[in-house]
Amino acid sequence: MAERLRNKSAIITGAGRGIGRAIAIAFATEGANVLVNDVDTENAKQVAGEVEKLGVAAAINNDAIGSVAAAEAVIADGYDAFGTVDILVNNAGILRDKMLHNMSEDDFDRVIEVHLKGTWACGREIVRRWRPVAKDEAQKGTPPHRKIVNVTSASGLIGSVGQSNYSAAKMGIVGLTKTWAKELGALNINVNAVAPTALTSMTEPLLQDPNAAEQRLSRFPLGRYGAPEEIAPAFVYLASDESNYVTGQVLCVDGGLVI
Ligand SMILES: NC(=O)c1ccc[n+]([C@@H]2O[C@H](COP(=O)([O-])OP(=O)(O)OC[C@H]3O[C@@H](n4cnc5c(N)ncnc54)[C@H](O)[C@@H]3O)[C@@H](O)[C@H]2O)c1
Repeated sequence: MAERLRNKSAIITGAGRGIGRAIAIAFATEGANVLVNDVDTENAKQVAGEVEKLGVAAAINNDAIGSVAAAEAVIADGYDAFGTVDILVNNAGILRDKMLHNMSEDDFDRVIEVHLKGTWACGREIVRRWRPVAKDEAQKGTPPHRKIVNVTSASGLIGSVGQSNYSAAKMGIVGLTKTWAKELGALNINVNAVAPTALTSMTEPLLQDPNAAEQRLSRFPLGRYGAPEEIAPAFVYLASDESNYVTGQVLCVDGGLVI
């Protein structure tokens, strides 16, 4: 086992499959305890089992990210399981793609709720726990670095046809990331975001039509979607002490899609 996250505990939302699962495995491989949040209870259980097999502690939470109540529950479960939490990854997400003229109020609200409100609520809840502790530590010396890693998207940086809900949410998450970095830097709370592209259940349907797939892949200088395991190391870096002097940044791990 590598040691970059030894003695750390992390909460990862939407970690039952895809990128979130790969982050959970990568964190556990680096020595972190991991709370696996996902609305898919079976997947969450399976990933928690994989985490435990790597010799660290795992916990499960099945609340649907997108409300203050869910944020309070998932953060409380992390503290109950591990005693403390050092890292929060706001990864849970859904798509409800439609062109603007066809997009329903529900399509808009659901995507904003899960991504933007969910990230805001989980961030607020963990920071309410971290602030008094870090202020106390700052009076005595230097607080250890605590890390929030948010998940945005190319859609949240350059927009994307058919995704006005998702693009608005993901651009909002960039705003949260930069604002929190400014608010919390004095307490050694680092806040960054990753803009990934990976082949997952979320993106596989986009490649089913061969013509659409060719057109889509032609936008990637590296010519392909990444595997979730190629995205996870960026999260390890942003969660570890190697990134203690990095905050407020968006790291594109996307085969060059956003250049
Ligand atoms: N895959 C990509 O290319 C790509 C590109 C840009 C951004 N992203 C972002 O990366 C993140 C992960 O995406 P993915 O590709 O792994 O998707 P995915 O669909 O494979 O996984 C998402 C997971 O989140 C869970 N989930 C959905 N809503 C939830 C909720 N309200 N509460 C808790 N869990 C919930 C799902 O059950 C699923 O396990 C998302 O935020 C997504 O927007 C992905």
